[in-house]
Amino acid sequence: MNLQFTEEQEMMRKMVRDFAQNEVAPVVEKMDREDYFPRDLVTKMGELGLMGIPIPESYGGSGMDFTSYIIAIHELSKVSASLGVILSVHTSVGTNPILYFGTEEQKQYYLPKLASGEYVGAFALTEPNAGSDAGSLKTKAEKRGDSYILNGSKVYITNGEVADTFIVFARTDRDAGNKGLSAFIVEQGTPGLEIGKKENKMGMNGSGTVALSFDACEVPASNLLGAEGEGFKIAMANLNIGRIGIAAQSLGIAEAALEHAVDYAKGREQFGKSIAQYQGISFKLADMATAVEGSKLLTYHAANLRENNKECGKESSMAKKFASETAMKAATEAIQVFGGYGYTEDYPVERFFRDAKVCEIYEGTNEIQRIVIGKQLFGER
Ligand code: CAA
Repeated sequence: MNLQFTEEQEMMRKMVRDFAQNEVAPVVEKMDREDYFPRDLVTKMGELGLMGIPIPESYGGSGMDFTSYIIAIHELSKVSASLGVILSVHTSVGTNPILYFGTEEQKQYYLPKLASGEYVGAFALTEPNAGSDAGSLKTKAEKRGDSYILNGSKVYITNGEVADTFIVFARTDRDAGNKGLSAFIVEQGTPGLEIGKKENKMGMNGSGTVALSFDACEVPASNLLGAEGEGFKIAMANLNIGRIGIAAQSLGIAEAALEHAVDYAKGREQFGKSIAQYQGISFKLADMATAVEGSKLLTYHAANLRENNKECGKESSMAKKFASETAMKAATEAIQVFGGYGYTEDYPVERFFRDAKVCEIYEGTNEIQRIVIGKQLFGER
């Protein structure tokens, strides 16, 4: 593939870089320390058109290509991985399911609100006993007249603290395994939906990860997304795309760790010369740079397939797995290059380390990515 970006894509990169440097960088440490949702930044992202980059203009979005969206997550995550995941979850799994599977009425009503940033979107799949085995989830949805009544609970819902809409997966058929799941658009404020405990996480502070409970929560039947029984398919299709966003987020963290480590190594002198001149350090940086480049190629390759409406499940899993492992390794090595300073909160590399870890876990653990890749290798999918 040709890693040449168009003029529009480069304009997107510059716009997001400027926004990240001028508006996000000054508050990134505060957001990490105080773990608050950056409402004003998200509002600004809405004004810049970032909350609906790949959503068609006819539904209030920016109508740009998928690669531009991935560029935005990549650039934003170099400064704040938390904003990267807020944007990725909002778009890939909070908004796209409506674009791809919604009725015309659902699209007309919800997409302009989500694409403008007036609404923040979230995705509610995981349950206390259904993580990797998403198809075994137990939240029930029973049809009653013109409504569905939802009962059950969800955990680890990114953006859930502030979300206006949740794409919720629930069981409409007890005996049909993963073919018995359906998807619903559930609005914040619906009676019976309660926003539960906010997690105290190792990193990714600001993105507000919460539990949800549904207690006789009545959702209009018109908010069923797709057909009954299509829920698992909808979840998998959107996770395939979402994982490219997590790859881009991981790439941003890895690149930032590399840049900080290179700068520090050039400026730090020991035994009479800069530590960059020791192979012990320069080899580390060379390995980091190589893995960052590999992550970039995999991520933009998966984005390119998606953009051209080609099958991208295997490639998005490869990109997510490789880029998140690279982010973790790059952050670990960056701390090593910084030595004792890297272990303190005075430098951002310890935040990169804390933020990187979850990229190996969410939107499917890296073990699950290997299952997805393996099944394709053996022709099982
Ligand atoms: N793409 C397309 N289709 C897929 C697919 C994929 N990646 N994975 C499975 N499917 C399809 C299969 O082709 C199969 O279709 P048919 O029935 O038509 O043949 C069907 O789904 C069932 O497949 P499996 O038998 O392989 O299903 P399984 O129950 O064994 O599980 C799994 C498959 C890959 C392990 C899946 O459960 C999975 O991806 N689990 C991880 C869940 C996950 O990613 N959770 C993330 C939560 S959201 C999040 O983290 C967001 C956030 O907050 C940041």
